[in-house]
Amino acid sequence: MYGNFLEGKGTIITGGASGFGKGVGLEFAKRGADVVLVDINGEKLENAAKEIQDLTKRKIIPVQCDVSKSDQVDSMVKQAFDDLDNVYILFNNAGIGTHYGINIIKRKEEHWDQIINVNLKGQWLVSKAVAKKMRRQKFEPLAGKIIHTASAAGIVVNSALPVYSISKAGIIALTQVLAKTLAPKITVNAISPGYHATEIYNYDEKLILDMIKEGGVKTPLNRLGTVEDVVNLVLFLAAPASNFITGHNFPIDGGIVDAGVPAHFIKSDV
Ligand SMILES: NC(=O)c1ccc[n+]([C@@H]2O[C@H](COP(=O)([O-])OP(=O)(O)OC[C@H]3O[C@@H](n4cnc5c(N)ncnc54)[C@H](O)[C@@H]3O)[C@@H](O)[C@H]2O)c1
Repeated sequence: MYGNFLEGKGTIITGGASGFGKGVGLEFAKRGADVVLVDINGEKLENAAKEIQDLTKRKIIPVQCDVSKSDQVDSMVKQAFDDLDNVYILFNNAGIGTHYGINIIKRKEEHWDQIINVNLKGQWLVSKAVAKKMRRQKFEPLAGKIIHTASAAGIVVNSALPVYSISKAGIIALTQVLAKTLAPKITVNAISPGYHATEIYNYDEKLILDMIKEGGVKTPLNRLGTVEDVVNLVLFLAAPASNFITGHNFPIDGGIVDAGVPAHFIKSDV
């Protein structure tokens, strides 16, 4: 449907060693892109980059980087612009999950710092470093596009995943702020997946189904999400078909958010 619209375009994908990042990396490369694939896990990253390169014959450059560290982010972004010539799409996606069910009153400071630093600060650091150079690119009508990864839990916050939910609500706000800041040269949008059995859930569908049941979550489309569901949305947000869209957050969740994730009651001695 979209053809090879990424021919001659460079892309950066964070969290690229597995899950949504790897899936999007393969799709972008199939559409003609060269890719800087970024992840904190060096071994998984090398394997993913090789797999995508073998399948697509594109330039896939693995760069190990912890997105929560500004020095590592800055040198990763510099390398990406040097090696790729341009960065037209940033899929800003690296993130970590958290144990389910511990309420915010009981969470330790280290936990807050870890989740916020990777999930929220990390996406800010990467978008900031990329946007400074992206906005000077000569592509028309847009100099580039940024896609953040939020979550359904950032729209209807889940008190059983409190810090995670706050980090993802922050991503939705960051998306709006950046979209206004970077218009009219760069579009900035976010995706909000629901429940998809990736590594973040140890590929454990039963674990997810138990969480959904315990939380009373309603999924109108009555199935778990897949990586492919997310890839299809990111592809649309990367393609010219979405060039008039900026500052928006797109749930990709089988209808969970519209059905309204009910308030989650945790037995608590608070
Ligand atoms: N799977 C879901 O159901 C779901 C739902 C909502 C949102 N999300 C979000 O989607 C994004 C991708 O998750 P996924 O499901 O593909 O999980 P995943 O675990 O398969 O992929 C996440 C990748 O990010 C990498 N990563 C973690 N910390 C990093 C860091 N500090 N620096 C660089 N890389 C780091 C991991 O090594 C991993 O390869 C995350 O932001 C996650 O919060 C996932």
